[in-house]
Amino acid sequence: MHDSRFCVSFQKTGQKRFTTFYPTTPMRKLLLFLFTWVLIPLLQAQTLTSPDKNFTLKFELKANGTPSYQLTYKNKPVIKPSNLGIENNGSPSFMNGFFVSETKTSSVKDVWEPIYGEQKTIQNNYNELLVTLTQKDQKNRFIRIRFRLFNDGLGFRYEFPKQENLKYFVIKEEHTEFNLAGDHKIFWIPGDYDTNEYPYTTSKLSEIPKLQKKATVQITAQQPIPTPSVQTPSMMKSTDGLYINIHEAALINYPAMNLEVDAKTFKMKSHLVPDAVGNKGYMQTDAQSPWRTVVVSDKATNILASKLILNLNEPTQYKDVSWIKPVKYVGVWWEYFVAGKSTWAYSSENNVRLTDDFSTFKPSGRHGATVENVKKYIDFAAEHGFDAVLVEGWNIGWEDWIGNWKEEVFDFTTPYPDFDVKGLAKYAANKKVKIIMHHETSASATNYERRLDRAFQFMVDNGYNAVKTGYVGQIIPRGEHHDGQWMVNHYIHVARRAADYKIMVNSHEAVRPTGLHRTFPNWFAQESARGTEFEAMGGLAPEHTTILPFTRLMGGPMDYTPGIFQTDLSYYGTGSNQRVNTTLVKQLAYYVTMYSPLQMAADLPENYLRFPDAFQFIKDVAVDWDDTYVLEAEPGDYITIARKAKGKDEWYVGGITDENQRTATVNFSFLPKGKQYIATIYADGADASYDKKPQSYTIRKVVVTSKSILKQKLASSGGVAVSIKEGKKSDLKDLPKL
Ligand code: NOJ
Ligand code: CA
Repeated sequence: MHDSRFCVSFQKTGQKRFTTFYPTTPMRKLLLFLFTWVLIPLLQAQTLTSPDKNFTLKFELKANGTPSYQLTYKNKPVIKPSNLGIENNGSPSFMNGFFVSETKTSSVKDVWEPIYGEQKTIQNNYNELLVTLTQKDQKNRFIRIRFRLFNDGLGFRYEFPKQENLKYFVIKEEHTEFNLAGDHKIFWIPGDYDTNEYPYTTSKLSEIPKLQKKATVQITAQQPIPTPSVQTPSMMKSTDGLYINIHEAALINYPAMNLEVDAKTFKMKSHLVPDAVGNKGYMQTDAQSPWRTVVVSDKATNILASKLILNLNEPTQYKDVSWIKPVKYVGVWWEYFVAGKSTWAYSSENNVRLTDDFSTFKPSGRHGATVENVKKYIDFAAEHGFDAVLVEGWNIGWEDWIGNWKEEVFDFTTPYPDFDVKGLAKYAANKKVKIIMHHETSASATNYERRLDRAFQFMVDNGYNAVKTGYVGQIIPRGEHHDGQWMVNHYIHVARRAADYKIMVNSHEAVRPTGLHRTFPNWFAQESARGTEFEAMGGLAPEHTTILPFTRLMGGPMDYTPGIFQTDLSYYGTGSNQRVNTTLVKQLAYYVTMYSPLQMAADLPENYLRFPDAFQFIKDVAVDWDDTYVLEAEPGDYITIARKAKGKDEWYVGGITDENQRTATVNFSFLPKGKQYIATIYADGADASYDKKPQSYTIRKVVVTSKSILKQKLASSGGVAVSIKEGKKSDLKDLPKL
């Protein structure tokens, strides 16, 4: 036996000399060790950097062939090594046993123009890594994971290409981990299958379990996840000042993702919304998951400015988009929430059927959608330059619409006896005002789908081009959830079918948005969060709207329905002692801080007429923008944003604060250099506060240039709003400079 560490022998075979290695047993073990733990991982690990090099993504396969990734930003860990994988029901899972059979990298740098939005052009710049993972033991079945690293964060998704040995599969659970680097502060609402209308809780990740019960307030239809979990978009801040936002993009034919939270290790893990029989997704190759998104910055303003989610959505395939237009509207709406003012229902009957003869019912005298009342709103819209009037409660069925889990609540085509469809359509058309249709489905999606074409045809026949849909209650088909795959497909079906009729859609109580307004631009706004209606049902915390842009609005525009001037609701003498927890000026600022191509002036017309000078801001403010400048922001505390109106030399600024007074700083450097403009500043009065003097405000006009800086005091739960326009030389001369 040789006693050397290894031996080399030379053999002569013909003219050739061969070298042969005979590893000894310990050497063999060492080689095996190196092969398994060094060489294979090296071959199976990939790194990717963002175009600006601030982000580094590392992908690797663990020893048992489990895919894993990690993410750093400016060398700080954002996501520590985290597993990826999908567990299937009835077939082997995509969790482990993989080897990397192919990797590809590529880069994209281009610019595109949204149909409407916060800016005219959007940069799309990323480096991509596409990893093909093959399971040798599963007849070489393969999946892909596509990573895109932008300068504002990461997007990745699972892809399931068409192949001989993978055609159909059923997802039991997705096991995507986000292993966070510390006990971050998080702005969260509890994980739920049916609602996103919870108030926000701010806490450490480690505190979620003990706060979960309190955070899960009662909502009409809810299915909270019992274990510690949160919904996305999930906004976090690390103790060393990193802002981290986790959400998803392009949620199509898949359920929405909640995040389970391990309060000890700070690991989050995907938890998909199940269907009626407990499955989470029915997949047929070619297929893919939505993108999982991680937006990161050391500046909060960059989170609000991120376009990563939109960039990960597909461009629209609609051939003609000329009919899709931003809308500013008023509506027969807030009066239903101002306790006792008026009602959706025509009568006080109950147990009604669509086949009943509603003209035989005794009217309650409080019906909101009467010809006379709707005309009042149309007149008001026409006089003050609004595009449209929303009319809720126009159709039969509201007598017992809620809480009965009834299949056929509405038919979407039969008006109440005191609502004249044709007459009002003509009246509105003459005044160049549109009426916005309302389709409350009462969550009976089956009934809505059955009647959808007739409902849309009815709209077209009567000159309607936009619909507000609603899904209050428990979903039918029974057992399905608002945020499950079935309903995700329903909302998209409605958007697509509406496009066939050139109808724009604003959905309420639908799944939270994921940037699909790029692909289906007629689905131009959603509610999907606690909006103004809750100000009349218990109130919203003053900080609520400083959180929403960092959470709910990351996915897309919100029909928040701002503009309440009469914030003390006891004013109506109907027994309500509710109050809207903002100053009047903060309501003005929302038109800038809450981006939407659909904006409502939600208060009653008579309240606007009491404050005509403040109302002027709502009349002036744009709903579509060339550019956006996020000037200051801190989630939960304050936001100040400036935007340039689309195609105009006009700018609007909105600043808001939570319950704490503060001084907002508006640096006008976004203005073109060397020119003077007139800024109209709408500010909280010196004595204003949301709970004592909400209607105290001042309005002043000053001359500003790109060098001007405004320091403006905001009252508690107050705001500032500024409109900036070109002025005549004579006007400029008489005004003070800022
Ligand atoms: C809830 C919606 O959010 C609200 O705007 C609507 O008025 C009611 N449902 C009735 O559909
Ligand atoms: Ca709602």
